[in-house]
Amino acid sequence: MELHAKVTRVALIGAGAVGSSFAYQMTTAGLCEELVIIDVNKAKAEGEAMDLNHGTPFSSSPMRIWAGDYGDCKDAEVIVITAGAPQKPGETRLDLVAKNALIMKEMMRQIMESGFDGIIVVASNPVDIMAHLAWKYSGLPKSRVFGSGTVLDTARLRQMLGEYFNIDSRNAHAYILGEHGDTEFAAWSNSRIYGKTIDELLAEDDRYSQKDLDQIYINVRDAAYHIIERKGATYYAIGLGLVRIVRAILGNENCLLTVGAHVDGQYGISGIHIGVPAVINRQGVREVIEVSLTDEELKKFHHSAEVLRQTMEPVLR
Ligand code: LAC
Repeated sequence: MELHAKVTRVALIGAGAVGSSFAYQMTTAGLCEELVIIDVNKAKAEGEAMDLNHGTPFSSSPMRIWAGDYGDCKDAEVIVITAGAPQKPGETRLDLVAKNALIMKEMMRQIMESGFDGIIVVASNPVDIMAHLAWKYSGLPKSRVFGSGTVLDTARLRQMLGEYFNIDSRNAHAYILGEHGDTEFAAWSNSRIYGKTIDELLAEDDRYSQKDLDQIYINVRDAAYHIIERKGATYYAIGLGLVRIVRAILGNENCLLTVGAHVDGQYGISGIHIGVPAVINRQGVREVIEVSLTDEELKKFHHSAEVLRQTMEPVLR
């Protein structure tokens, strides 16, 4: 009897800075046996595949990487979409919606034509709108098409809180929710640092202040602008964030990540994809978790949702 090893394939659409950073980090993550890179610039995809393949002897587990086409999506468990125009200095993510919506529609047409029936993770900006469009164009269940949402923003917040409170950022439990963009907000009321609330920490030690925390939130919200001004683009951290999401899917982790998921009334918001606490496993978004928020935080959430809805409306027509 011939034994057939189950081969896990991930497809990456977009071999730009974010896509190639994700691909590079996938070669050391040991999450899949196959990674196919698809890009309208075939030579770029081929070059990335060649360069990455040559590093696999240094990796912990074997992996085959090639530059493919949409037909290769059929046998992929997960597709990660990073393709699209990136932000230029001074441009907001929402400024990209018109051009990237057209690109997304064509990509989804080709993906679904391949017979793909897995999970799609979108990183192309504006990611919440692009994830919603990808879901609409795909016809797949809403649990299986979602965006990176505020996964990166939450990581930025945790890293800065770790520095501020001089603790391991993995013990700083705090979420950025809402749009992955200028209307995102920090759910301070729900934060726990070493198991303590922000109010407890501020009351205990006058070295800490809400003013500093408000500045940390601004630094998180505006991080991409400051990085783009300096090096032209962001890609390492979002690449790692995408690997984290793929690990949660393929590892069936049931872990909580603030991905850009479809909401159906949670937090009083419906009919869009937006950064929410969600449980991620092998089926995609298992459920959206409704954490307790203050009235002020809920108001920020609804404002963020309204901005996304209004921005998306013209491209949905
Ligand atoms: C950023 C990009 C991924 O926030 O939107 O770095």
